[in-house]
Amino acid sequence: MSSTTNKTRKIIVTQALPYANASLHLGHILEAVQTDIWSRFQNKSGNECLFFCADDTHGTPVMLKAKELCISPEDLIKDVQKDHEETYKLYDINFTNYHTTHSDENKKYSEKIYLKAKKNNLITRKTINQLFDEAESMFLSDRFVKGTCPKCGASDQYGDGCTKCGATYDVGELKDPVSAISGTKPINKESEHVFFDLPKKLDVLKNFLASADLQKPITNKLSEWLNDDLHQWDISRDAPYFGFKIPEEEDKYFYVWLDAPIGYIASIDNWATKNNKDMNSLWSADSDYEIYHFIGKDISYFHGLFWPALLSGSDLKLPNGIYVHGFLTINGEKMSKSKGTGILAKEFAELCDPETLRYYFAAKLNDKVEDIDLNFEDYVQRINSDLVGKYLNIASRCSSFIEKNSNALSGTFDNELIEKAINQKEAIEACFESRNYSKAVRLIMDIADLTNKYINDNTPWKKDIDEAAQIATTALNVFNILSIYLSPIIPNITSEAFKFLNQEKQSFKDIELYLKNNINKYKPLLKRLEPIVIPEEKPMSEEENYINIDQFADIDLRVAKIKNASHVDGADKLLQLTLDVGDLGERNVFAGIKKAYDPESIVGKMVILVSNLAPRQMKFGLSEGMVLASSDDEGIYLISPDSGATPGLRVK
Ligand code: MSP
Ligand code: ZN
Repeated sequence: MSSTTNKTRKIIVTQALPYANASLHLGHILEAVQTDIWSRFQNKSGNECLFFCADDTHGTPVMLKAKELCISPEDLIKDVQKDHEETYKLYDINFTNYHTTHSDENKKYSEKIYLKAKKNNLITRKTINQLFDEAESMFLSDRFVKGTCPKCGASDQYGDGCTKCGATYDVGELKDPVSAISGTKPINKESEHVFFDLPKKLDVLKNFLASADLQKPITNKLSEWLNDDLHQWDISRDAPYFGFKIPEEEDKYFYVWLDAPIGYIASIDNWATKNNKDMNSLWSADSDYEIYHFIGKDISYFHGLFWPALLSGSDLKLPNGIYVHGFLTINGEKMSKSKGTGILAKEFAELCDPETLRYYFAAKLNDKVEDIDLNFEDYVQRINSDLVGKYLNIASRCSSFIEKNSNALSGTFDNELIEKAINQKEAIEACFESRNYSKAVRLIMDIADLTNKYINDNTPWKKDIDEAAQIATTALNVFNILSIYLSPIIPNITSEAFKFLNQEKQSFKDIELYLKNNINKYKPLLKRLEPIVIPEEKPMSEEENYINIDQFADIDLRVAKIKNASHVDGADKLLQLTLDVGDLGERNVFAGIKKAYDPESIVGKMVILVSNLAPRQMKFGLSEGMVLASSDDEGIYLISPDSGATPGLRVK
């Protein structure tokens, strides 16, 4: 698409919806910055670009995180959304609207799109065999099963794919599966699921791959999947599940990846209602807008196959393009909390001006699916050299000469240099348009270099006030042009620059309007960065490691006698114990000790019970407390009091 056409384009962009189970890390910011620069560029060059996002709130991870924090999923997603929006704001991400997938709009569209697909004969059902965690009484999604990769034999891999060899597989193929939630071995259990008939959309998808704006490696990967891996897509999940109930079904929920991309539409709908816009013109079969999704490479399948199929199934417009970026690594390593490279976006914003990270990402981003490294040394060097040393240096060097000239720009200046800067406009626009921001940055910094050289060569400090003002005026005109070029990347710094220049015309088409007004006193717009030191995740000090006497006293430990012990049907780790706890009466406890003890051998044994642990409903019954035991690779060892202790005695 040429940027030279005069027609104003109407564009909708989205970035992937971050999961509402955790704070944002710098990888999320990379994607947001990539999308935001593109969107700001479009608006700055005369197009209309709307930028939508939302929190992705449904599914097992959110449910489990809420459980871990002992709050409701609704409370969790509210807190996380607030945190996400605050973080994006720090990085100046300019959303048109930020919504949530746990919304009326999303429910409405999910049901509508599903029922339309059903009407179009695209919904089927099938009984499947799924892994079930008996301890938690829940079916396990692939992410919550761990085991050995069937392709390369790597251990500790997830049910849906291997991080070592990159293979994707069916959870059923995973070897030695265990539940990542309870650590128990899951059983196979049947359940009827609802499917979207993906193969029926083969032609639509082929057509989509041929016509949409996609990167070559993505088209290749998607075609590969299309040609040999197109199954019916399972879109239902059984309770317990945090999500939307599927209409016309009993106790079935939409799989999170069904309603997540619909969240894009829901966010638009939410905005359209608030702003009196016509949803039909925004996203329908005959929408007026071009639609582009910015996403990371890990979710190409969902966006490149499921999503267009789903949209087509309900006669909605398919995206014009999907722009895929690689993953962020930090100092050459995958982001990881334990290595101190999993730094959260909010924490990083306290260490450095967030705009400088926007600049650094821009300086590294291109249209490839390659991973991108944030190297702290390189980063500091780059910011100090480019932004402080080249770009802002022009303003700080020149302002004094204008000040001496009563703050007035000169009426005469050197057109040649200014023309050179203007002549790069189309090349720079093309780089932004094609997401080759790194090249745009190179072209922009080349102009900054030329300008600094121009100042050096013309030695204004040796000239009289008048001549010095002419040289400075020339350089400041270029500084204005550079500020326009950089404005999609560093909106805050450039907006301060425009204030300094008294310049209100700030779009790409204003580049040829030379500075007209007098300027203001220059105040440094950015400090040189100091070397970055990430505060180490400090090991807990001894003090923090202690619990106090009250906390200990909260745990009610009692001597108990095993009155009865038996196997539990269908559980291969558990024994059911009936405990005599003296004045506390009898307790029923399921203990994971089957591997080490025969039931008969422990009847009459004295053990220690955590008696005030909240009772837990398990599939086999209520477990009322926990029996203390230690364990290692070889076995499990129940803890017993010395002889003489009687049931019910408090352990202190
Ligand atoms: N919720 C889904 C997306 C649903 S879109 C309808 C999801 N969420 S996520 O929080 O895991 O990721 C959000 C985006 O961040 C994805 O595009 C993902 O690729 C991107 N990234 C996650 N980690 C990343 C890096 N380390 N580097 C760059 N992008 C990364 O997936
Ligand atoms: Zn593998």
